[in-house]
Amino acid sequence: MMSEYSHQNLAGRHILLGVSGGIAAYKAAELVRGLKKGGAEVRVVMTRAASEFVTPMTLQALSGNPVRQALFDPAHEAAMGHIELARWAELVLVAPASAGFMARLAAGMADDLLATLCLATEAPIMLAPAMNRQMWQAQATQENAATLRRREVQLVGPAEGEQACGESGPGRMLEPLQLLDVCNTHFAAGPLAGVRLTVTAGPTREALDPVRYISNHSSGRMGFAIAAAAAAMGARVRLVVGPVSLPTPAGVERIDVESAEQMLKAVLADPGQIFIACAAVADYRPREVAEEKIKKQAPQLSVALQRTPDILATVAALENRPFTVGFAAETEQLERHARAKLEAKGLDMIAANWVGERAGDGGFNSENNALELYWPGGGESLPSGDKMTLARTLMRRVVERYKKTNGADKSHAED
Ligand code: C5P
Repeated sequence: MMSEYSHQNLAGRHILLGVSGGIAAYKAAELVRGLKKGGAEVRVVMTRAASEFVTPMTLQALSGNPVRQALFDPAHEAAMGHIELARWAELVLVAPASAGFMARLAAGMADDLLATLCLATEAPIMLAPAMNRQMWQAQATQENAATLRRREVQLVGPAEGEQACGESGPGRMLEPLQLLDVCNTHFAAGPLAGVRLTVTAGPTREALDPVRYISNHSSGRMGFAIAAAAAAMGARVRLVVGPVSLPTPAGVERIDVESAEQMLKAVLADPGQIFIACAAVADYRPREVAEEKIKKQAPQLSVALQRTPDILATVAALENRPFTVGFAAETEQLERHARAKLEAKGLDMIAANWVGERAGDGGFNSENNALELYWPGGGESLPSGDKMTLARTLMRRVVERYKKTNGADKSHAED
């Protein structure tokens, strides 16, 4: 096990520590102390039951930040609202996680601040269960644990041993030092640790005159979800984004642009070792941009358009090109068109989805989506899900293909 002084990966990380009710809550104090010692920024959220076991004042003094307990607390909400807090977190660690808290999380309840934050965050969630052995072994708890694992909540522990109730068996919370090791490894061992990754997202705007433009309805959500998932895997993420009003995921460098030309320039400044083109770049721009506002005098108006640069194809054609992933939104013959783009643009992978009538509730500007992945010689269907879950699955496939391709083919840029 690492020593208390070697948790250097925690430095500067935003860790939200949730404390739920249980005798092990007293260990939260030592945990906060260790996280702070490692250089992390810690904000503590307690359930009402937790404050029966450890005082908010203790955790406030140790974390250096106000401890939050209630969802509807005007003073705290004014300082940092719960949604802001959910976004601030790079990791949510709930220690101890009681049987009741796990049940609420598995059921998707939003009846207190901590459960609400777990629903609202895009950060990975880690639970350190602590309870009586029979409660841990109860079928309900085991089914809740399985549900949570399936949703990619990481359960650490419980350990076996003597319990506060006098019994012995599985249910003890891991010791604070073990939890610090797990957190430290979490930030160190991401499969993309140190890898530079650039993502484009959102629409572009192509000016017609000083006040008008051509654009599209892209929300940017898929690209933002990919950026968040990649950052959680340890990548150094640059997000080059057209005009959208989404909050920047934790730990991601954001570069705001408007036109396709500006997006290309920002991408070429550092296409990274992995490049993912998720933006809905306008294909055409007005050939001339009127200097003054165009007057509505003529009954008809024609605007000559010209092609914008294809950012994805440009990056894929670079000499030291990154591992390059494109998107394809299609209304018919999904696989044929997507594979044609994969080949024509020389990509390593393409993620295709239906748009228009066949998209169901997914696709452009919606929360849900389904993706078909294609790469040279293979492919996989990713089941429909919310964009964050899809982004995580997509990123896992990208990592696998990137590592495979990079091992065999050294043309991908390296540090
Ligand atoms: O050829 P098509 O526009 O369907 O290809 C879509 C893919 O190409 C997407 O990944 C999109 O981000 C990218 N693209 C681009 N620059 C353009 C047009 C599309 O990067 N000008």
